[in-house]
Amino acid sequence: MANNLLKGKRGIIFGALDENSIAWKTALKAHEEGASFILTNAPIALRMGKINELAKACNTEVIPADATSEEDLLNLFTRSVEVLGGKLDFVLHSIGMSPNVRKDKSYGDLNYDWFLKTLDISGVSFHKVMQAAEKTDAMNEWGSIVALSYIAAQRSFPDYSDMAQAKAVLESIARSYGYRFAKTKKVRVNTISQSPTKTTAGSGISGFDVFYDYAQMMSFLGNASAEYCAKYIVVMFSVFTHMYTIHYLFNDIAYSTIILSNNF
Ligand code: NAI
Repeated sequence: MANNLLKGKRGIIFGALDENSIAWKTALKAHEEGASFILTNAPIALRMGKINELAKACNTEVIPADATSEEDLLNLFTRSVEVLGGKLDFVLHSIGMSPNVRKDKSYGDLNYDWFLKTLDISGVSFHKVMQAAEKTDAMNEWGSIVALSYIAAQRSFPDYSDMAQAKAVLESIARSYGYRFAKTKKVRVNTISQSPTKTTAGSGISGFDVFYDYAQMMSFLGNASAEYCAKYIVVMFSVFTHMYTIHYLFNDIAYSTIILSNNF
């Protein structure tokens, strides 16, 4: 059931790769709630072509941008404001990739060039996105910027490898840029730590099935789905959450709290 929560709102959604992606579900939900937005992904991911199906369903277009390229991002924000016909009210950063995880490198044998790549793509890109938004003056007052994180940013989770460091960087950037954007533009910046979710990025982590099942067992309502994450993100984009900024929010049915209470 739609409630027009985002009626008249404009935005950019990063990271819809296929129908399992959290960004994909968010795009469908945001469209249902009345938003207009641009979809974007790295040029290499666009070659799959799937995102065009989503663009059609959401009556929008795709503007390619590698989230590590400042030039791509400046172009993305400038063109999005032009295409959508006004400044933006929301941005979703739903981006993650680690070459070390992809190539199954053990944590004691990391390739450091790849490590820096992981940090750039999955962490520093959040800064680049917000810097491009600021430099192009693309955000409306009370706009909302959300990035997706994982509990491994804050707790020991060996299988998450260098992605744990990338998520720690991401959450730290949310604190610093959130402060800056709140003061200059009243723009809100938050991260949402999501339950393990069966997507391309999620399933690429070694032992994913084991920690998916473990989290499923420990979270008393089961793992939170990508659909529920999308709903949460839409609420974070809406006027109901104007007073939220620089929060690490959780969409994991208190799994992270249960870990603590069990001294895991
Ligand atoms: P996904 O694989 O569907 O999405 C990851 C996206 O990042 C893809 O669309 C990919 O093309 C994009 N990407 C990679 N490199 C990029 C670059 N250089 N520039 C622009 N985009 C790039 O997987 P999912 O799970 O939907 O991931 C979304 C976010 O959720 C990520 O930040 C991930 O770390 C986070 N997350 C996922 C969890 C899971 O278990 N799936 C749990 C907690 C957080």
